Amino acid sequence: MRRALLVNAEYKIQLLDRVADLGPSIEQNSPAMAKGPTGKSLTAAETPPYVLVRIEYAALNFRDYIIGSGRYGAPPHDYVAGNEGAGVVLDSTAPDFRPGDAVFVNGHGLGEKRPGTMSGQVRLPPEAVIHLPDAMTTLQAATVGVAALVTFAADRVFGPGPVAVTGAMGGTGRVAAACFARAGRDVTALTRDPARATPLTELGIGTILPPPTEIERAAEGFGPESYAAAVDVTGDMLNWLTRQMRTGGVIALAGFAATNRPDLSALAVILRNLRLIGVNSGLAPSDKAQALHWVAATLHPGDYPLLAHPADPQDIAPLMRDFAGARGRGRIVVTLQ
Ligand SMILES: NC(=O)c1ccc[n+]([C@@H]2O[C@H](COP(=O)([O-])OP(=O)(O)OC[C@H]3O[C@@H](n4cnc5c(N)ncnc54)[C@H](OP(=O)(O)O)[C@@H]3O)[C@@H](O)[C@H]2O)c1
Repeated sequence: MRRALLVNAEYKIQLLDRVADLGPSIEQNSPAMAKGPTGKSLTAAETPPYVLVRIEYAALNFRDYIIGSGRYGAPPHDYVAGNEGAGVVLDSTAPDFRPGDAVFVNGHGLGEKRPGTMSGQVRLPPEAVIHLPDAMTTLQAATVGVAALVTFAADRVFGPGPVAVTGAMGGTGRVAAACFARAGRDVTALTRDPARATPLTELGIGTILPPPTEIERAAEGFGPESYAAAVDVTGDMLNWLTRQMRTGGVIALAGFAATNRPDLSALAVILRNLRLIGVNSGLAPSDKAQALHWVAATLHPGDYPLLAHPADPQDIAPLMRDFAGARGRGRIVVTLQ
């Protein structure tokens, strides 16, 4: 019997023996429960297409921490974490999906408005379900997950040249730095503790530096034009980054792990003709599929374990609490199968 996991707002965990024990939210995953706006049961022809997926590996990320901790309003009492994961199709009324297909899922309210991947089974509209490339396993897909989508979104707007990645030991930064390094770029990884950044060296990242000091971050002077592109997941180095960029460079702002109110040198942006763009994982399904193919073709099979922090369901509560301290563990991948 499959076990399901409920993580409530305080990250208290209940392991339940049956998915149905999670109550109404989980039952919405059942095709039999499809209802129209008036609450009337829909006929098969009226039911929007769905894909029912058995999650083998759920990934937990910063978004789960933000939602679960109530920073953006209290989560529902029966909140189930997990806004991404990978597994196998159990059932589908969507023509493109068949039982047994290996897929990645994210978005569309997963782990937010609907029970997340930690529930072990999710029912989603087909737009939220992406076929895996033949060369990618469900474990590998959950390992790179939304970080792969963000990295791909950044890569599409970057020109050639050296790339800086902040928060490089974290989940998103590590995947971005690894993909760019394996794609042949000259990558500088910024991480708070370079002495424990051995995985970054093993992932082929050439330069590993500590973040700039407070004084360097707050300074006004321009540095050398070191980077053609940057991925920033922390927000607190943006002022420094803008002053290290090559003329015409692009900074992809992907996260705000340190601050949501970044400081910025307007003068550097203007004089160096910089572009500051937001990147996120909310890509069109065809772009998500393309992103997974790009990553599968770029990373080496031995890279995936260096990107992941493997976890069991019982590890989740401390891991979720620890997000606030962000210890640079890489991508948290929970085995559910
Ligand atoms: N745009 C999107 O679609 C998308 C997708 C995924 C994540 N994100 C965002 O990206 C950010 C990072 O997410 P993540 O999942 O990679 O988180 P994570 O695994 O916790 O990594 C965050 C990293 O940021 C660095 N950091 C520096 N100062 C920090 C501070 N004061 N507090 C916390 N971390 C600090 C650390 O890197 P070092 O250990 O190397 O120093 C840390 O490991 C979050 O803001 C998240 O919301 C956005």
